Amino acid sequence: IKRITTHTLHEMKGRGEKISMLTAYDYSMAGIVDAGGVDIILVGDSASNVMAGHETTLPITLDQMIYHATSVVRAVSRAFVVVDIPFGSYQGNSSEALRSAIRIMKESGAHAVKVEGGAEISESVMRILSAGVPVMGHLGLTPQSIYKFGTYTVRAKEDEEAEKLLEDAKILQECGCFALVLEKIPAKLAKMVAETVSIPVIGIGAGPDVDGQVLVVHDMLGITQEFKPRFLRQYADLRSQMLKAVEEYIDDVKSRDFPNEKESY
Ligand code: KIV
Ligand code: NA
Repeated sequence: IKRITTHTLHEMKGRGEKISMLTAYDYSMAGIVDAGGVDIILVGDSASNVMAGHETTLPITLDQMIYHATSVVRAVSRAFVVVDIPFGSYQGNSSEALRSAIRIMKESGAHAVKVEGGAEISESVMRILSAGVPVMGHLGLTPQSIYKFGTYTVRAKEDEEAEKLLEDAKILQECGCFALVLEKIPAKLAKMVAETVSIPVIGIGAGPDVDGQVLVVHDMLGITQEFKPRFLRQYADLRSQMLKAVEEYIDDVKSRDFPNEKESY
């Protein structure tokens, strides 16, 4: 199988082929997502919510992200693997950012890192890129700044914030980012960004006129329960199926149906 690279992704944008991206945080799920043929696997810091049960993405550590990334990389033979640098591991200064990116690349074998923010982190982005590590940007709703925003509502609805977002997208492209994620912004603005920059723009809650889409895999499979924003399309109801399986197993244990003769030595 031919591996997806930053070059492949750039070519996809060029010919108008949409890019598919999903999260994964562990070996088993990453193996399924890769076998399905997704183009990019994101080891997102949403692992903080989905895997660890935290309310925000802020608590997850660099060591924990590396553990998730290492598990994902072992399962993947085709997809391009991107890892979020977690909150507190790059905002201090550009050498801290570079050190974190290098640890992720060296210890996990991932292919790129992702950071949240625009102009304010441009120096760090350039420093990471100067070491040869591809960087994906992330603008719009940036969950690591949730306490600054105060809410998870749509971003950049006002002209001023929209103009800053477009400016930040151009800055990230000039810094050398290979792609951008736009989260929860008006579809019209996302379209304008995707038309303005030449690098692939991957949307989540950013409408159809971008170069690709990303969802949290546990959300689209219906494993998570509480989180149901408008942009989420649910492709399976695994939580119900898993619950049913667990209940049947318990019944079989209690009723002595399991294990039977064939299942015993
Ligand atoms: O952590 C994550 O899952 C993400 C995606 C929602 C883009 O950053
Ligand atoms: Na993230």
